[in-house]
Amino acid sequence: MKVIRMDSKLACSEHAADIIVHEIKHNHKAVLGLATGSTVEDLYDCLIKKTQHDNIDWSGISSFNLDEYVGLKENEYDQSYRYFMDSKLFDHVNINKSNTNFPIKVNDKAEANQSFANYDELIKNAGGIDIQVLGIGNNGHIAFNEPGSSIDSLTRCVQLTPSTIKANSRFFAKEEDVPKLAISMGLKSILNAKKLILLAFGENKREALNKLINAKSFDPNWPCTCLYNHKDLIIITDLK
Ligand code: F6R
Repeated sequence: MKVIRMDSKLACSEHAADIIVHEIKHNHKAVLGLATGSTVEDLYDCLIKKTQHDNIDWSGISSFNLDEYVGLKENEYDQSYRYFMDSKLFDHVNINKSNTNFPIKVNDKAEANQSFANYDELIKNAGGIDIQVLGIGNNGHIAFNEPGSSIDSLTRCVQLTPSTIKANSRFFAKEEDVPKLAISMGLKSILNAKKLILLAFGENKREALNKLINAKSFDPNWPCTCLYNHKDLIIITDLK
């Protein structure tokens, strides 16, 4: 595990973008694992700027997003993670949209006990994820792997905890509108990635980040600790 502490969120995002751009330049068929949320907004901005500046070709790149809400209403499409990725990144680079994958399409129905493990098969068939971008929840969740998640978990339907629903309500008109279910890559799916870049910004993330940095084993109460012995984890943070 490598921990890089920088002065600002922007400096951290620039650094993460440089790593991703380097990968894309050297591997035209790179497979990216992508996250949504406020943490990655500057990263995607930086990627767009560097793409324009260096004329970077995304045409051979494919992507797999970590998660997607289940049960958004038609008029809530702009809350979907597909919409987030299109508007914040995909619409601004020449990635082939048919190579951008989500564990569920926005209008599809899902049952809590339904398996989505074929998403992991799809990732495997694409050659595996070269770089996985991660944020972290205040409660230590990674993707939507909430406390109690198994280290062997694959992509599946998950229930969001009250604390995640509360944290994500800032993007919705009211807390009741936040979906209660999502399809999320599992901890094992994430650990399969060749390289992980985890970004963590602001005091709210300090406790979870410290649990990961100090972890000596996996603690299911803090799902982020599953990453402690990944062979290529880079943590980039503005926390000193
Ligand atoms: C989103 C995701 C989540 C977020 C986490 C932090 O795809 O996987 O785990 O990374 O909830 O969210 P923000 O960045 O909004 O603080």
